[in-house]
Amino acid sequence: MKITVVGTGYVGLVTGACFAEVGHEVLCVDNDTRKIDMLKKMQMPIYEDGLEEMARRNYEEGRLKFTTSIKEGTEFAEVIFVAVGTPPGRGGEANLSYVEQVGRQVAEHMTSYRLLVEKSTVPVNTSEQLKRTITKYSKADIDFDVASNPEFLREGRAIPDALEPTRIVVGVETERAAKLLRETYAPIVKSSGCELVEMDIASAELTKHASNSFLALKISYINAVSRVCELTGADVEKVARGMGLDDRIGPQFLCAGVGYGGSCFPKDVDAFLHIAADLGYDFKLIEEVQRINKTQREHLFAKIKRELWVLEGKTVAFMGLAFKPGTDDIREAPSLYFADELIESGAHIKAWDPVAEENFRAVYPDVDYCTDVISCAKDADLVLILTEWPEVRDMDLDKIKEVMKSPVVIDGRNAFDPKLMADKGFIYHSVGRP
Ligand SMILES: NC(=O)c1ccc[n+]([C@@H]2O[C@H](COP(=O)([O-])OP(=O)(O)OC[C@H]3O[C@@H](n4cnc5c(N)ncnc54)[C@H](O)[C@@H]3O)[C@@H](O)[C@H]2O)c1
Repeated sequence: MKITVVGTGYVGLVTGACFAEVGHEVLCVDNDTRKIDMLKKMQMPIYEDGLEEMARRNYEEGRLKFTTSIKEGTEFAEVIFVAVGTPPGRGGEANLSYVEQVGRQVAEHMTSYRLLVEKSTVPVNTSEQLKRTITKYSKADIDFDVASNPEFLREGRAIPDALEPTRIVVGVETERAAKLLRETYAPIVKSSGCELVEMDIASAELTKHASNSFLALKISYINAVSRVCELTGADVEKVARGMGLDDRIGPQFLCAGVGYGGSCFPKDVDAFLHIAADLGYDFKLIEEVQRINKTQREHLFAKIKRELWVLEGKTVAFMGLAFKPGTDDIREAPSLYFADELIESGAHIKAWDPVAEENFRAVYPDVDYCTDVISCAKDADLVLILTEWPEVRDMDLDKIKEVMKSPVVIDGRNAFDPKLMADKGFIYHSVGRP
């Protein structure tokens, strides 16, 4: 099949490369000339494990192409996936201007039937607005469909998630659209054995927000439990294990830590809250999820302050900047919050991250960036663990202690055993553990 994917970010580029990998002919469109120039030279604008190799193979074999022209993208394929950003608007609601822009542009250029598929995360009933937009801007009375196909991939595991998804959700309102999406996903359904779940568009749109908010809720729940653990001397890791073995609960997303970040959970939870409020439902439960997440960072910062007493002139070594391992994405990463607070307090920051340094440097050019964990810890008053990269989990603790000015480790990811850290002579604080 021929497929157009508009937006070549974390979702669009992975989706395009994976569709090409399973045999489709894919044209990726982005209005960012720099990105498309890079991609035409096979330089990846983002880091995702295995992406470069897969993109290169399909590019060289002619199944994956890139353009900045939405006209070309509209002419190229009947099925057009929209994977542009939906960043938070001023009040926290999703900013749909990029989605709307693609709708208008496709309408202007289409000359025969097109299926526009929302892959971006959008509020329920966005398809209605998209349909109205396409009808208004198309030059003639051309048949078209809009469908919803929310994306559930996780950064850092994006390729396996796209090729072996837990499920594929499609929201459609015509058999023609359903057939096209079944055909698009047939190779992935066949090789992975996953279910393609068909439903109405509104339900598909809502599935994405409901899923992400539920995952955020699980994280906030265990973080709230971690606070109770700290007040009682219980160990949240043990509690989580005891809970997670119940298959009605499950072990995933029961990791207490510094709280969720990234480009999806914070904005999608906020957007869901706004969607519900706009519809007249006061989703207080989600508001609490957000509040717990915010206080979790503040609580960890209070631990830093308690240990360092005066922050001015102290050196804090950030181990990890990305919001999680396996990605260079720092959008809404906890590292941003700590950097702001510490800089504001007059502390000096050293930082190490294997792939997110460049993105962080664009926001904080004056941080002292290091090439490895040992040089990062050197002369630090405190090590702050924010991303559980393997290089952090496996670091030589004796060496770290030796090079630090004072042996204080604040671990926002519960990456180490508190007893081991005590035995090694560290002053060690983690989340929800004695
Ligand atoms: N990042 C994730 O892990 C993830 C997972 C699931 C869903 N999503 C959702 O997918 C969507 C995309 O997220 P992302 O992280 O890939 O965003 P991103 O910012 O990495 O990429 C978006 C891309 O769209 C391009 N773009 C914007 N307007 C355009 C236009 N009019 N024409 C062509 N290109 C345009 C931008 O230049 C950018 O390259 C969002 O709605 C997000 O919520 C993201």
